[in-house]
Amino acid sequence: MSEAHREPNARSLEMKSRARQQFEAWSGTYDRSILHHFLFRPSYAAALTEIGRWHAEHPRPFRVLDVGCGTGTLTGLLAASPWPVEAVGMDYSPGMCVQAAAKVARAGLPCSARFVAGDSEHLPFADGAFDVVTCSNSFHHYPHQDAVVREMRRVLGPGGRLVLIDGFRDNIVGWVTFDVLINWVENAVHHATWQQVHRYFADAGFRSIRRRKINFWLPLLVTVGDA
Ligand SMILES: C[S@@+](CC[C@H](N)C(=O)[O-])C[C@H]1O[C@@H](n2cnc3c(N)ncnc32)[C@H](O)[C@@H]1O
Repeated sequence: MSEAHREPNARSLEMKSRARQQFEAWSGTYDRSILHHFLFRPSYAAALTEIGRWHAEHPRPFRVLDVGCGTGTLTGLLAASPWPVEAVGMDYSPGMCVQAAAKVARAGLPCSARFVAGDSEHLPFADGAFDVVTCSNSFHHYPHQDAVVREMRRVLGPGGRLVLIDGFRDNIVGWVTFDVLINWVENAVHHATWQQVHRYFADAGFRSIRRRKINFWLPLLVTVGDA
């Protein structure tokens, strides 16, 4: 059986069910969370920087998939950018997708942004459908993280790029924040070490894997790899 199509077990079912419940309940007020100041906005900025670097190397129209897009802020920022981009946001919570679509419609953004409900482990897209895949602050909810990175690799075309951003738990500040506090609040989540993330990328066939840490408090790990 391929990594991307594993049988669910009790732990994976619990992680997914908790994630869906948590984000369905949060979808209506998510955009007002204080975490946007400290966690989510710095992540969007880091993702846009990486996408800008990719586009400077590949100056042509391109397609971006944001996995675990939440209320679609990053997808909306892309649609509003001067880049010739088609942006798709995908999320496991249908409520998040509804909020995202409404937000983009309210902003009067062009139809170059759309949203799809789905599971990161089974991306509902063809092989090579995207040039860039992003994923910010969502990866710790995935029970089979290696399988998800393989799926992300599958939907990237040649020369494509994956930008993965999640809590950095490899120093004392990050360990207390993510392994202790966030684990306690969210339960049934897993923040991978930078070595684990590197291994997922390498095993999925990514090249030129690099990483950087951003933020002192609430530190984030930005990992980038080329398809
Ligand atoms: C903390 S929010 C981050 C949202 C957005 N990326 C941002 O930075 O604002 C985590 C998101 O991951 C989504 N999620 C959790 N498990 C998922 C899965 N298996 N597949 C796709 N999305 C998932 C949740 O529904 C939620 O919207």
